Amino acid sequence: MISPGVARFLAGATQQTPFLVIDLDVVEQRYREIRAAMPYAKPYFAVKATPEPAVIRRLVELGACFDVASPGEIDLCLEQGAAPECLSYGNTIKKEADIEYAYKLGVPMFAFDSLREVEKLAQAAPGASVFCRLLAGSADARWPLSDKFGCSTDFAVDLLQKAAKWDLRPYGVSFHVGSQQTNPDRWDASIAAAAKVFGELREIGVELEMVNIGGGYPARYVDDVPPIAEYGDKISAALDRWFGADRPVIVSEPGRSLTADAGVLRAQVVSVRRPFEGGDRWIYVDAGKFGGLAETEGESIIYRVLTSQTGPTKPVVLAGPTCDSLDILYRRTKHELPLALDVGDTVDFLSAGAYTTSYSSVGFNGFPPLPTYCIGDKR
Ligand SMILES: Cc1ncc(COP(=O)(O)O)c(C=O)c1O
Repeated sequence: MISPGVARFLAGATQQTPFLVIDLDVVEQRYREIRAAMPYAKPYFAVKATPEPAVIRRLVELGACFDVASPGEIDLCLEQGAAPECLSYGNTIKKEADIEYAYKLGVPMFAFDSLREVEKLAQAAPGASVFCRLLAGSADARWPLSDKFGCSTDFAVDLLQKAAKWDLRPYGVSFHVGSQQTNPDRWDASIAAAAKVFGELREIGVELEMVNIGGGYPARYVDDVPPIAEYGDKISAALDRWFGADRPVIVSEPGRSLTADAGVLRAQVVSVRRPFEGGDRWIYVDAGKFGGLAETEGESIIYRVLTSQTGPTKPVVLAGPTCDSLDILYRRTKHELPLALDVGDTVDFLSAGAYTTSYSSVGFNGFPPLPTYCIGDKR
């Protein structure tokens, strides 16, 4: 999908490619949709998806809160008018100095998933509200997040109990069922695990209050995905099933679902390699894995692609411009692109508003980071 605003921008664009253009009105629309689908959850936008000042400003205006991963993201949110009480430090891996920095600025909530992190929090953020990230599977997610984070429910009970003893406020649990999660039933098992931790801690006198159901809500790439309302309904049913009338405070951390569909990454064909006998036709564009399209790794995220050419099409291999053979975007996934496509033609990657600029290198092979243009900024 290309919004009318982005279509107008691209029609008259003279900016050097590659670049990203984001329609802030689409971000707003997605925010309103997720609020309507999950009225029971307070959204904390995962800043890492699109750390763009104008995006943050628009979300501040809408009353969103923010999931931050570093002092840099904290500064960005505060500079754009977010209140410190509205930030949650969701990265489980933090330097003690960074915890202290956030705490002194008034950030109230911190994640952890190991003993060492609880120790650091007790030291650097006395009295802070803390939540424990639980292990969650990533089946059906296009971009898994399960290997590196989270602990078992038994371990979580132990850690939250220690947090209480060490003068932290054991506030709740979190999980993330994997990004671009295509199956809305995948929240159920993690909500059950959360309820188990709540129950076991209650028995020993520790009352948790909050469940953070993470991100994972999908954008519209090539494959169809269920509507956000279905996610809202199924998660609500799971909360009823496992918590009954005793529903805790619910926090969500949408990233991709708020900003991906708002953006288009415009690139240009730099070169074309005609097929050897029986071989592939290669199209090299000026935005590659290091220029914003990192999520093509493993061909995990498959963007819709539109070009400025028309006419008969054939499958191609799409690759980036750098001197690195990792810089191939799609080889197994064959995009059918016009045979007439040639040097200087434009190639637009749709739904590219999330995890593109934030993944773009600062200058691999001397190519500059991906610039962003935001349309609809009221400032
Ligand atoms: C802790 C945390 N919350 C939220 C998100 C956002 O996830 P998504 O973009 O899938 O909504 C991420 C993504 O990496 C994350 O690590």
